[in-house]
Amino acid sequence: MACESHVYESPPEGAAVDWTIPQDWAAYSQEDHHTWDLLFERQVEQLPGRASQAFLDGIDVLSLSKPGIPDFEELSEKLMELTGWQVVAVPGLVPDDVFFDHLANRRFVAGNFIRRPDQLDYLQEPDVFHDVFGHVPLLANPAFGDYMAAYGRGGLRALEFGSLNKLARLYWYTVEFGLIEEEGALRIFGAGIVSSHGESIFALDDPSPNRIGFDLKRVMRTNYRIDDFQQVYFVIPSFEELLRVTVETDFAPLYRELENSSDLAPDDIDDDDTVITIGTQAYAEAKANGARAASAG
Ligand code: PHE
Ligand code: FE
Repeated sequence: MACESHVYESPPEGAAVDWTIPQDWAAYSQEDHHTWDLLFERQVEQLPGRASQAFLDGIDVLSLSKPGIPDFEELSEKLMELTGWQVVAVPGLVPDDVFFDHLANRRFVAGNFIRRPDQLDYLQEPDVFHDVFGHVPLLANPAFGDYMAAYGRGGLRALEFGSLNKLARLYWYTVEFGLIEEEGALRIFGAGIVSSHGESIFALDDPSPNRIGFDLKRVMRTNYRIDDFQQVYFVIPSFEELLRVTVETDFAPLYRELENSSDLAPDDIDDDDTVITIGTQAYAEAKANGARAASAG
């Protein structure tokens, strides 16, 4: 996930100065590996025809269907050959500058713990399933790998401008919850969707959310919710185009401009939007009504 908050001020005991820790693969229990296998099988079953081809290809070339939690060293060896990326373990969320520095140097930081068997469908912090199954397959794709490294450099720059909240929306609506158009159909690629059993159906099939063509400035104006399925998804035309527009745009003037423009709510539709589907927002409204009814007692 995008790191907006963090738990520690300095690397905790046992972590290196760059905050990495050993994955300690040998320490996983049978139950841990079994949890991975359950999550993996559930997802691969429903992803063909839903997930971006680049994501499915990544699962194949990285041999992720091998049973058990992947060994980061083995993964890194394969990734290094393909796109120069590595996967390194960290103890939970790390400070923003540390996170960006790793990305800029093609090191993807992943949590090494796995959720408990009673948390298959939902958990607050990213675990190894979200981080590795969700994020790593696309790092085998050259354009997406370049995008993530560029994002790390852009993150360091956004910190200097004090505009990280704007840039974080780009990460959220692409890396975590992005959709892509492939062969005339919508596909999911965001890690938050592909690693979620419920949202990988909802994001494509549910009539509730809006689906809008990707526009850099539009995305950076849009708030997001972290507590439930998204109310809007943005659709990129290709990873190459996402890479091109983000690398070719100087964000500094954009950040200045955005300081003086109002934010959009997740369910707002803007005049300039390329609307793909206008959602009913029925899912979000039912949730909000349920919450109100519950608090009214
Ligand atoms: N071009 C951006 C800037 O000027 C950096 C960036 C690249 C951000 C790719 C995100 C993704 O800050
Ligand atoms: Fe994530």
